[in-house]
Amino acid sequence: MGMRQYKKIRDQTRKLTPESMNWKGKFVAEIPEGKALISGAYPNIECEVEFGRYSKKGIIAHPTEFESIPDYATKPLCEHFKSCGGCTLQHINLDTQCELKRELFLSECSELDFIKKYSDKIKIIKSDDEMYYRNKMEFTFQQEKWGDKHFGLHEEGRFQSIVNLDVCHLHLKIMQEVFAIVRDWFFESEVSGYNPWSHQGIMRHLLLRASKNTGSVQVNFICNSTYDEVPNLDELIEKLKKECSISSIYFVENRSLSDAVIFENVTLVYGDEYLIETIAHKEFEVAPQAFFQTNSSGVFILYSKIKELLENEGALGGKLIDFYCGAGTIGIFLSDSFKEIIGIDEVAEAIENAKKNAKRNKLENTRYIAQKVEKLIETSDLQNADVLIVDPPRVGCHQKARNLIKQIDAKYIVYVACNQQTLQENLVDFLAQDKYEIVDMVLVDMFPQTGHLESVTLLKRVA
Ligand SMILES: C[S@@+](CC[C@H](N)C(=O)[O-])C[C@H]1O[C@@H](n2cnc3c(N)ncnc32)[C@H](O)[C@@H]1O
Repeated sequence: MGMRQYKKIRDQTRKLTPESMNWKGKFVAEIPEGKALISGAYPNIECEVEFGRYSKKGIIAHPTEFESIPDYATKPLCEHFKSCGGCTLQHINLDTQCELKRELFLSECSELDFIKKYSDKIKIIKSDDEMYYRNKMEFTFQQEKWGDKHFGLHEEGRFQSIVNLDVCHLHLKIMQEVFAIVRDWFFESEVSGYNPWSHQGIMRHLLLRASKNTGSVQVNFICNSTYDEVPNLDELIEKLKKECSISSIYFVENRSLSDAVIFENVTLVYGDEYLIETIAHKEFEVAPQAFFQTNSSGVFILYSKIKELLENEGALGGKLIDFYCGAGTIGIFLSDSFKEIIGIDEVAEAIENAKKNAKRNKLENTRYIAQKVEKLIETSDLQNADVLIVDPPRVGCHQKARNLIKQIDAKYIVYVACNQQTLQENLVDFLAQDKYEIVDMVLVDMFPQTGHLESVTLLKRVA
């Protein structure tokens, strides 16, 4: 089993029947050599596949023929669906996507007693928007050494290969116009694209953020040069200002060798410092680097569900601690229902945003601390919390953070998870010694057309 075996079967064809989906939206079939990860397949339906690239995790397989096509199959809206790594589930209707994610969640967390007893009660809430929901997109410019230019998203599973996109149906429609103008400018002008192998070339990334409510777009050009070194950039900016609803344009000089979007040297070249987004009746300033949930209508569903779960328990009021608070969104959304809110995040800029957001919403009951949760030393302020929100990054909570969370002794913990693979391990820790029990779990499909999911778990202190 493993890489050597995968190498032997590369380019071969075989008939396979995938049994389940994984979090990347691929369909998994066990094979004698290891695992086949089939894109664009249907669970429990046999298909003929051609094997492609492989890694330790498995060998990628592309279906060429299906034994049958299920009723829940849909015609993908996007012409780039098969090659682009942005979406993986456009060939399946939204109800079935949600059901597949729910099943995967239940099997991922199958060790939890709550799941064993109440799996039927765990519901998944659909996103209001099936397409055109993302308020943030990161596109890549690239240029081959022989001159060919590319602009779009990464090819499925291939980090350095870019699929040229004419259109993207995942982001808000107000971003499409900006995308098209920048793309045409890139291909028609003499400006070069970055080459990740030689580290030469100018244009690296286009990061777009948009506010669904105000309908305006924040444009970030990430370049391997200074502003003045980009040919015809002024003309492009004038065109964008004239033809699109632009809130701001940032120029980011990024000379680092890493392919990630790094905000090394940031200049605001036009417009407002922040994009303004609204969730219910609260307004938020979104900085280029800030974390902000990417599905604008989904975030309202998610936060409203958190509030409803707490309300059902009579847990509103009192003191709320918002761990991993980012720009303070969850605490501020809930601020009318609590006397005191303390938010903690490791990113100092995020904490500055949170303070500004609290001020913008005229709140006087919030305090923020810029620190890693696991490094908090002075914790006396955090004691006697009524509710502790925990919304960690994909890696989950550090062991020291988990110890602190248990020590704080809050009456309720709300665990918001974007990575269900780290959730169970974290929850088992909180449930140890029967101090807490799970009261409810809700799933929210914040990311239609992809394998991702957001979950909310409410824990109550019982000892
Ligand atoms: C999933 S985001 C949640 C943000 C916010 N709750 C929201 O809904 O917009 C995770 C946040 O955790 C922060 N973070 C990551 N590791 C951290 C740590 N060790 N201590 C504190 N904050 C951390 C990140 O800066 C990010 O803002």
